[in-house]
Amino acid sequence: MIHSPSNASRSGTFKIGGDLGINRLGFGAMRITGQGIWGPPADHGEAIRTLRRLPELGVNFIDTADSYGPDVSEWLIREALHPYAKGLVIATKGGLTRSGPDIWKPVGRPEYLLQQVHKSLRNLGVEQIDLWQLHRIDPRVPADEQFDAIRSFIDQKLIRYAGLSEVSVDDIKTASKFFDVATVQNRYNLVDRTSEDVLDYCTQQNIGFIPWFPLAAGDLAKPGSILDIMARKYEAHPGQIALAWILKRSPVMLPIPGTSKVAHLEQNIAATDIALSDEDFAALDAEGRKAFQSTR
Ligand SMILES: NC(=O)c1ccc[n+]([C@@H]2O[C@H](COP(=O)([O-])OP(=O)(O)OC[C@H]3O[C@@H](n4cnc5c(N)ncnc54)[C@H](OP(=O)(O)O)[C@@H]3O)[C@@H](O)[C@H]2O)c1
Repeated sequence: MIHSPSNASRSGTFKIGGDLGINRLGFGAMRITGQGIWGPPADHGEAIRTLRRLPELGVNFIDTADSYGPDVSEWLIREALHPYAKGLVIATKGGLTRSGPDIWKPVGRPEYLLQQVHKSLRNLGVEQIDLWQLHRIDPRVPADEQFDAIRSFIDQKLIRYAGLSEVSVDDIKTASKFFDVATVQNRYNLVDRTSEDVLDYCTQQNIGFIPWFPLAAGDLAKPGSILDIMARKYEAHPGQIALAWILKRSPVMLPIPGTSKVAHLEQNIAATDIALSDEDFAALDAEGRKAFQSTR
């Protein structure tokens, strides 16, 4: 078993926009809210302790969104960590509305996006958002209008860098006509390889790729599975092997495993202590692709 303390700096570094340096293994702050990502967390104290443990573990990249709670995740980050340490990069998002637990509806009207940028600035207690991501491109609003709004947020210095979420390579190319796409956040893990082409494009272009749901491994985490075998070999947890694999997949990979618990956070950061061999990486990759193909 791999024990903490470990340090996220062992995951290597990446510069968002070629400028904001972060340790590649970050933290997703969606899980510090209530059930259905709605309202306050079940254990407020543990959520605050989890956030305060981040700098001690070398985590200097936090992902959140106005819609987590809504607002709750941003409020808790401020409560736990403000005034922010130099070098801490907080990425937030806008463009999804909430009307109840597990309900997410895109609204990409430029005036709504601007309102949400201002709200995130207030919620987080910052004068400029380090990285603001369009949570979803709203299909009912011309994409150009949404991208043009983002360019205006950069021009007004409300946000420093901008990213996209759940997009295709074509979306990235179109958005790049309006602003430099610093990051892309798509669902990606060992067994969900839908965004393989997007990841390859981001790697080529040196765009940060933020895989959400990085810990998912489906049947590959069952006893006797490849993750189980590797976990035994490396004396680690299957989730740690999944993270070690994802980190090795590309130098632009910026995983943000999410948890509301200090113990789980420590375990996730300890994944950076695992040095997967090239053969084991390839074996996991092949099994992951096979599992993915079988679901298509
Ligand atoms: N762009 C988007 O559309 C989008 C969508 C979803 C998520 N995200 C972002 O991506 C981040 C990660 O995604 P995710 O939270 O869906 O997936 P994830 O990080 O792969 O998994 C989180 C789940 O795993 C559990 N967990 C975490 N560490 C664990 C450990 N060491 N042992 C056992 N269980 C553990 C958590 O519960 P516990 O709290 O009990 O640890 C939680 O239920 C989110 O926080 C959010 O910032 C973005």
